[in-house]
Amino acid sequence: MFITSRRRELESDLFETRLLGKKAVCMAGEEAVEKFYDNELFVRKNAVPGVISKSLLGEGVHGMDGEAHRHRKRMFLSMMTPERIEDMKDIALQELDKKAKLWEKRSRTVIYDDIREVLVRSGCRWAGVPLKEEEAAQRTREMGMMVDSFGSLSRMKDGKKARKSQEEWLAGIVRQVRKGKLQPAEHTALYIISHYRDENGKRLSASEAAVEVNNAVRPLLATGYFIVFGCLALHEFPDISEKLAADENGFSQMFAQEVRRYYPFAPAMAAKVKKPFTWHDYQFKKDQLVVLDFFGTNRHPDSWNDPDTFNPERFKDWKGSPFSFVPQGGGDHYAGHRCAGEWLTVIVMRAFFKYFTTHLSYEVPEQNLAWSLSRVPTIPKSGFVITNVKRLHASP
Ligand code: HEM
Repeated sequence: MFITSRRRELESDLFETRLLGKKAVCMAGEEAVEKFYDNELFVRKNAVPGVISKSLLGEGVHGMDGEAHRHRKRMFLSMMTPERIEDMKDIALQELDKKAKLWEKRSRTVIYDDIREVLVRSGCRWAGVPLKEEEAAQRTREMGMMVDSFGSLSRMKDGKKARKSQEEWLAGIVRQVRKGKLQPAEHTALYIISHYRDENGKRLSASEAAVEVNNAVRPLLATGYFIVFGCLALHEFPDISEKLAADENGFSQMFAQEVRRYYPFAPAMAAKVKKPFTWHDYQFKKDQLVVLDFFGTNRHPDSWNDPDTFNPERFKDWKGSPFSFVPQGGGDHYAGHRCAGEWLTVIVMRAFFKYFTTHLSYEVPEQNLAWSLSRVPTIPKSGFVITNVKRLHASP
């Protein structure tokens, strides 16, 4: 809440501060997002602290600029065809249903723990990455450590170790693809990245390719945080379950969007000023660090009525601005750094929330469902425990 609280205190969407010993500007709101995603004004190279690159993000597409970034980004977006987005839904539902069979036999299940494994298995299958049964637990733990790392220095250390192990594993897989020992389908991320040539016609080294294969699988785990928060919303607002089950007028879409708007995941993003410019009487200097408040923008009163209320129906008449709703970054997917996996995230969220309401019955026992904004990323303390699970249909 640091940026949001300070903004409210100063009654300004723009203020100067010091972050990690450096002078920085923090900003929020629709107009600020539009500026932040202007490639003429900002660059990403070396903007995010090294510890975050070495644990959460990796040294690939996230920190690139200009033509090199545009080219690399097109590679990612070529994976996101309507057919491949549907594939992800089908795969993820199969994996969820498999897991739910185990839930029926157990006395209690922590959704946060199990959803992560479901998503790792789904992500690997979707991306064409072979995941041996005996390594599923290790890879889930490692990807979990990377995604969970970015709010604390000690967790970042664990995330860095996990990344090293993941990148070695994935580089080995890329080498096998290149030697023809592994033959993933042509539409998969593993195939596309292994054979990708950059804007100069050069193939990525196996370790560079491993970073990008990781970028096509690991972030799906972040969806797990939104799934847990969606389960919490279903529990706290029981009338929503019926609306979700009926799914009239695209209710599941509105619900998924409101979960992404209301609950926190990625709090902010950093960039550096490319060339000096003035905005709102403030002079941005070349190389200055600028931090954009995602969470505060998603709840900005200029863009959202009653922003601190959970209300999926607000998306009924939403105009769809690329700058006011930024749970996964803003601007244009092709031109800038906006998340390449937004469609996958939303389709998996919608499918899982519908599955929970139409394919499962379960109870939510007494537990600590409080969540804290001082932990990043955050989820309810208990991880959302369910009991007495029954599958209502054979499979989705
Ligand atoms: C970029 C969030 C899911 C792939 C990003 C960014 C954020 C984000 C905040 C950075 C935006 C910026 O730099 O301005 C999330 C969240 C997710 C999610 C919260 C789920 C809840 C996914 C999935 C994939 C994916 C499922 C792919 C399978 C990427 C890639 C980038 C990215 C490749 C880099 C884009 C670039 O730098 O041009 N994501 N993401 N993400 N995301 Fe996601």
